[in-house]
Amino acid sequence: MKVISIVNNKGGVGKTTLTQNLATGIANKGYSVGVIDLDPQANLSSLFKIENSNDIRSILQGSGKIKTDSFTKTHNPNLYILPNKKDISAKMFANLEYFDEKKILLDKFGKIDFDFLIIDTPPNLEVQTINSLSVSDYVIIPIKYDLFSLQGLVTVKDYLEKIVEHVNPKLKILGIVATFVDERESNNAQIKTKVTELFGEDLLKSKVRVNTKYKNSQLNRMSVYEHNDAKGINDMENLIEELFVKIKEMHD
Ligand SMILES: Nc1ncnc2c1ncn2[C@@H]1O[C@H](COP(=O)(O)OP(=O)(O)OP(=O)(O)O)[C@@H](O)[C@H]1O
Ligand SMILES: [Mg+2]
Repeated sequence: MKVISIVNNKGGVGKTTLTQNLATGIANKGYSVGVIDLDPQANLSSLFKIENSNDIRSILQGSGKIKTDSFTKTHNPNLYILPNKKDISAKMFANLEYFDEKKILLDKFGKIDFDFLIIDTPPNLEVQTINSLSVSDYVIIPIKYDLFSLQGLVTVKDYLEKIVEHVNPKLKILGIVATFVDERESNNAQIKTKVTELFGEDLLKSKVRVNTKYKNSQLNRMSVYEHNDAKGINDMENLIEELFVKIKEMHD
């Protein structure tokens, strides 16, 4: 199983949207995919119609482990979710010291048997995100493609280096994905130069273009695949193809 965290401390850069659509696209190719919603906002969970499911908080509070059957089936036969609960507040790991709490999730991992596990994280680099990275093989960083959003990227880079050093030495950056890309934007070349300066080859060639269909489809608890949006599907398919090549290269 390949475990991928979707991380950026900036809010609204498309983490949840990417988790939803990437997971759906990969599941549609026949792979089994689990998603975990580690964000107490529970945005990802609200995109799926699920009732009476286990949720990550109750598992973390209880004595049992997270296993394949802790996940709930979604409308997509290959896609399973371990949701968060909106009322849980951000206090999922409250009152615990930073260094004790960073591997709670890792300790809780039992036998989870999907081809891919994709974890959506909150817009900060705190406990949930540390825990997510502690169980991950890869991290994908979606960045909103405007000059403003680049300011925090140095922090993310330093942070990931610290995670590799102190928490999870096997963590690799799978890629930086530009989101909300407006192809008419004249600053794009300048933005690309800046991101490349920081992350070099980690900036992926495929992009997620600005597309109102993400929001429209989410209003009906759908991904761009069920919404049949050619532009969104095209962006996801290119991205998945590039990610699969990178994963293969990193394994060889
Ligand atoms: N490429 C895109 N083009 C246009 N709208 C998008 C795109 N990606 C996401 N959105 C929309 O932008 C909003 C924020 O996206 P999303 O919730 O995925 O961001 P996020 O990084 O998960 O936010 P948070 O940090 O609050 O968790 C949503 O309404 C979503 O539908
Ligand atoms: Mg989100």
